[in-house]
Amino acid sequence: MIILFGSQKGGVGKSTLCSNLAVFLAKEKKDVLLLDCDSQATLSRWASDREGFEIQPPIECLKKSGNIAPTLEALKKKYRYILCDTAGRDSQELRTGLLRSDVFITPVRPSQADLDTLFHLEEMVEEAL
Ligand SMILES: Nc1ncnc2c1ncn2[C@@H]1O[C@H](COP(=O)(O)OP(=O)(O)O)[C@@H](O)[C@H]1O
Ligand SMILES: [Mg+2]
Repeated sequence: MIILFGSQKGGVGKSTLCSNLAVFLAKEKKDVLLLDCDSQATLSRWASDREGFEIQPPIECLKKSGNIAPTLEALKKKYRYILCDTAGRDSQELRTGLLRSDVFITPVRPSQADLDTLFHLEEMVEEAL
């Protein structure tokens, strides 16, 4: 299963939710891979720190930018869960990720400015269907 995290806003909790879900799944002994598609690399740094401190269970994290659809297609054969984090904007990673994802999660902060982004996001999701 490919679970994609995306939004048109930064700081809404995508990377936090993604890493928390990865830890939950790993502790449940599920086969999980993180795919960091945000050039800010929040998730990669988190995974690297975690590895450095030897925190168990280990969680693998890869990085990818641009068209991520072929990568997701290939990784889907190897991992039960792929959690894919993207930047807080309309990006090629988000659009191509939407083409291959089974679940799309977009956290929204309780503000009008955040809610206003949902219309454009909805268009992106519809284009990917
Ligand atoms: N559920 C939450 N409650 C409070 N703070 C949160 C929550 N989720 C994330 N944060 C904090 O909000 C900030 C942005 O979170 P982050 O996951 O990096 O957002 P994004 O990936 O969408 O840019 C971080 O400081 C994080 O610790
Ligand atoms: Mg992030």
